[in-house]
Amino acid sequence: MAKLHLITYGCQMNEYDSERVAGLLREHAYELTADESEADVILLNTCAIREKAEEKVFSKLGELRRLKTARPDVVVGVMGCMAVLQNATVFRRAPQVDLVFGSAAIARVPELVARAREGRRHLLETAEAPLVKITARPPGVRPLKAFVTVMEGCEKHCTFCVVPRTRGRERSHPPAAILAEVRGLVADGCREVTLLGQTVNAYGRDLTPPTDLAELLARVSEVPGLARIRFTTSNPYNLTPRLVRAMADVPKVCEYFHLPLQSGSNAVLARMNRGYTRERYLELVAALRDAVPAMAFSTDLIVGFPGETEDDFAATLEMVERVGYDNVFSFRYSRRPGTPAASMPDQVPDAVKAERHARLLAVVQRVTAARSARLAGRTVEVLIDGASRKDPGALSGRTRCNRVVNVDGGGRAGVGDVVDVQVTEVLPHSLRGVLVPTPEEAVCSSR
Ligand code: SAH
Ligand code: F3S
Repeated sequence: MAKLHLITYGCQMNEYDSERVAGLLREHAYELTADESEADVILLNTCAIREKAEEKVFSKLGELRRLKTARPDVVVGVMGCMAVLQNATVFRRAPQVDLVFGSAAIARVPELVARAREGRRHLLETAEAPLVKITARPPGVRPLKAFVTVMEGCEKHCTFCVVPRTRGRERSHPPAAILAEVRGLVADGCREVTLLGQTVNAYGRDLTPPTDLAELLARVSEVPGLARIRFTTSNPYNLTPRLVRAMADVPKVCEYFHLPLQSGSNAVLARMNRGYTRERYLELVAALRDAVPAMAFSTDLIVGFPGETEDDFAATLEMVERVGYDNVFSFRYSRRPGTPAASMPDQVPDAVKAERHARLLAVVQRVTAARSARLAGRTVEVLIDGASRKDPGALSGRTRCNRVVNVDGGGRAGVGDVVDVQVTEVLPHSLRGVLVPTPEEAVCSSR
């Protein structure tokens, strides 16, 4: 068997795509290796969302140059968002690369790799292509939790973002294909799925007949054996009352909502072309908390968007406090080629971005710690997913609100079980707890 070394950068969708690539190449007699020095094919699945993500890839490609000089027959390929955004520039900056292709060409990866191995140099395949659902997975992988891409692309055109360019138009997979994939995963032991899309709550409007995420959640929920459903990423602009209702009505859907805010300032939101105001966002949070009082929120925030004033930034800090997020992913604005924001006036100096980012992190830490503290003493539902990293005698899992919990005395529970745990200690990055006895056990121990 030939050997494939796969390096994945960036988001969950890339992780998902990498698994498809490994699965497809497996069907052509490639097995995965963790050791790049013994690989026949090395593929980098890349991210282009911020400049730093691209720099990481170019620096890795620099490292691989030595390997390629020593073994010229090794095929080095660059796939994913950076492949599309940088295109032939990848060959100019890294001539040792043999193959560059976008996610639309994944279905053809065996053929592309074969051509590159036959000696075709600088093969470029970055055009859009019809959507296909690829369900190939690497063998031996029986995940307890899995990602399932339900739609590709994005048509929102936020002025800072390259995704509409790198991942193309919005295209949904038909519900039947998604359900078949979920059933297959569950048959292999999977208990939790995360439905993926760049704007996952716009799902289904391009299908005939049209459908929506609320309907899809209800149907996925009917798959026997599946315990939990998550989905990401939602856009506030597409958040419908039907989805709010589904959060309450579909029991397998977890009380966790990732709702990117990006900025708390209406002026900045308008320049970002996000399509909502801070008031609208707060209304949505209130509606979701009304429907599901335990709802945990996470968000994405950008600091230092062009023209962001101290007052704009203060409005972002204030929103963090008001919403009371469980988790925040914050980024310094990165100027991306071809995006409208890159040529906006009043770009914010790096030092100001860094200083604001540090202040934001301090507020986030305080707010998320306060949310954690509320969990002390509570009983939470935990999906056990393995041994605790720090204490191999203990089990570890996640709550429905996505917190890591280490469970002492887990003798009666095993991987894949959904158990009730009483939280005994709230630590900065995790919780500790003890198993809550089932009713029968409680009777026994009270005798
Ligand atoms: N589809 C998602 C976002 C995908 S990109 C959505 O609807 O929000 C993930 C996150 O990266 C974004 O939410 C944004 O916070 C951040 N991001 C995107 N472009 C960026 C840029 N140019 N600079 C800094 N952060 C950026
Ligand atoms: Fe990017 Fe905005 Fe789409 S952040 S992925 S253009 S919703």
